[in-house]
Amino acid sequence: MMKGVSFHVTVAILALASSIASAYNPSPLQDFCVAINDIKSGVGSNVTLVNVDKLASLNTLGISLARLDFAPYGLNPPHTHDTELLIVIEGTLLVGFITSNPNNLFTKVLNKGDVFVFPIGLIHFQFNIEETVALAFTGLNIQNPRVTTKANVVFGFVPPINPNVLIKAFQLDKNVVEYHQKAFAPN
Ligand SMILES: *[C@@H]1O[C@H](CO)[C@@H](O)[C@H](O)[C@H]1NC(C)=O
Repeated sequence: MMKGVSFHVTVAILALASSIASAYNPSPLQDFCVAINDIKSGVGSNVTLVNVDKLASLNTLGISLARLDFAPYGLNPPHTHDTELLIVIEGTLLVGFITSNPNNLFTKVLNKGDVFVFPIGLIHFQFNIEETVALAFTGLNIQNPRVTTKANVVFGFVPPINPNVLIKAFQLDKNVVEYHQKAFAPN
């Protein structure tokens, strides 16, 4: 009888705790580690991410921050993640995203002080179109943005995707696919 009562109370407290947690962040992702802070710069950009892994206090608060450094003509290549609000601090960026169904490209040239929003899950990029460096900061509405950089995951995944899939999907020559699978493989 006593056991039954205390079990009941424990369950009630757990239920309360979980409803409080999910009220603040509907999707507090912690099931993988986003490690994009030292993207090797074939593309001329670095992304330095402050997520829950870097700042534990962000846990359940639904927010994170990234600093984007661009070399002249540097690119932050097409990728997806949660909703992002970007502000340009220095330089000029050509940015764009593509909506899903129907696919439309929204693109704009941003200058110092301009802000731009990339809605959740849409493939997007930022490209420094000048011969000078560029700097931007972005806020993200989640503690651990679900970053997927398209070329890296498609060509660099370990174990590799069957090359015939990529040959057909991207209409590429076998040698080109093999070259890219080597180039994008981690290390
Ligand atoms: C990115 O980081 C690397 C390593 O720290 C550095 O050599 C490079 O200059 C950085 N690139 C930019 C655009 O900040």
